[in-house]
Amino acid sequence: MSITAELEPKLLDFPILSARSRGKDFVYLDNGATSLKPRSVIEAITSYYTEYSVNIHRGVYEMSERATAEYDRSREDVAALIDAPTDGQVIFTSGTTESINMVAFSWAVGHVSSGDEILVTLLEHHSNLVPWQQVCRATGAELRFLPIGPDGVVSQDRIDEAITTKTRVVAVTGMSNVTGYVPPHHTIVATARERGAAVVMDGAQFVAHRPVSVQELPVDFLAFSAHKMCGPTGIGALYVAPGRVAEMEPYQYGGDMIQAVHATESTWAPAPARFEAGTPNIAGAIGFGAATRYVRDVGMDAIAAHETELGRYLRDKVGELDFVTLYGVPGTGICSFNVRGVHPHDVGTGLDQLGIAVRTGFHCAQPLMEHFNVTGTVRASLYFYNRPEDVDALVAGLVRIRDIFA
Ligand code: ALA
Repeated sequence: MSITAELEPKLLDFPILSARSRGKDFVYLDNGATSLKPRSVIEAITSYYTEYSVNIHRGVYEMSERATAEYDRSREDVAALIDAPTDGQVIFTSGTTESINMVAFSWAVGHVSSGDEILVTLLEHHSNLVPWQQVCRATGAELRFLPIGPDGVVSQDRIDEAITTKTRVVAVTGMSNVTGYVPPHHTIVATARERGAAVVMDGAQFVAHRPVSVQELPVDFLAFSAHKMCGPTGIGALYVAPGRVAEMEPYQYGGDMIQAVHATESTWAPAPARFEAGTPNIAGAIGFGAATRYVRDVGMDAIAAHETELGRYLRDKVGELDFVTLYGVPGTGICSFNVRGVHPHDVGTGLDQLGIAVRTGFHCAQPLMEHFNVTGTVRASLYFYNRPEDVDALVAGLVRIRDIFA
């Protein structure tokens, strides 16, 4: 197979793709952890720091107006990426983890109580599980699990019975960071709406790898990060559906989130400022905006199509190795596996010696590891700049590791 022709020139946008690691060509297969950054994003951040690195929403001078305009433009770009009706529903956060914690502690603790249920799956990243454990502790609500099968696939026929009239929150991943599996969101969202439950989606992987429209998939909250989609680390967003914003209490208090402050009481600015206390990550937001423009220019449909095709090649080639066990199901660009008899960390270290970067371990998803009855896996995860040669290098590396450990 060959890389989708229209994506080939995009490889030149990533300076790091010509780097070497351990003296070998760098093969990056850890996009589930973070993505590489194109020049346009690096330049947007550098340009802020070199040309107008001043604060926003405060100065009446030219540079501050420029910084404010770029920051606000980024919010519009992020809203456009997910087809949000207005940018006022997009709150900048430090990333998916903070976004989910914001939902948990500025909304859920005030809207969930004893006798209610919060529904999650065993597929969740810890950041979409532990906050819900804490909300249950604080409120007396019960944490329940939407059943999944042995391969980590949500049992479609159990959705209807799992989401009950007691369910207040359904917190579900958009795409598993371990297996790449995409749950049946439309059924989950439709059933949750019917029962009056709010859907919180962990979009860390999903939004970076698939076209997402919150109008077509009307979740109540969508959390995602810039760094998984060619943007910088330390910045992400929380989309909040119309109607839910007014139900949220501020998450932090201080400058920029107030309307008026008196000696003993204060009032709050409208959203999204209400939820962005203090000087924000201005450079990060500007880089985030540049990243969304970049991936939209590449095309989210083209990204999804390439990853689906290359992901199939990856899973087929790794699956052909008779000393490998695969986990999950095909369909995306994430593939988890183990080399039988070799600890995943040893596989990762062996691949590193060949210049190949993968993630090993429990991937912040220990309950799913327990479900698969393993302590960890090796995970290869693709983005649109990966090529079949990267997969071939991985497969050759695995054969070499098997020979060494045999
Ligand atoms: N959540 C990221 C991953 O899956 C860090 O690797």
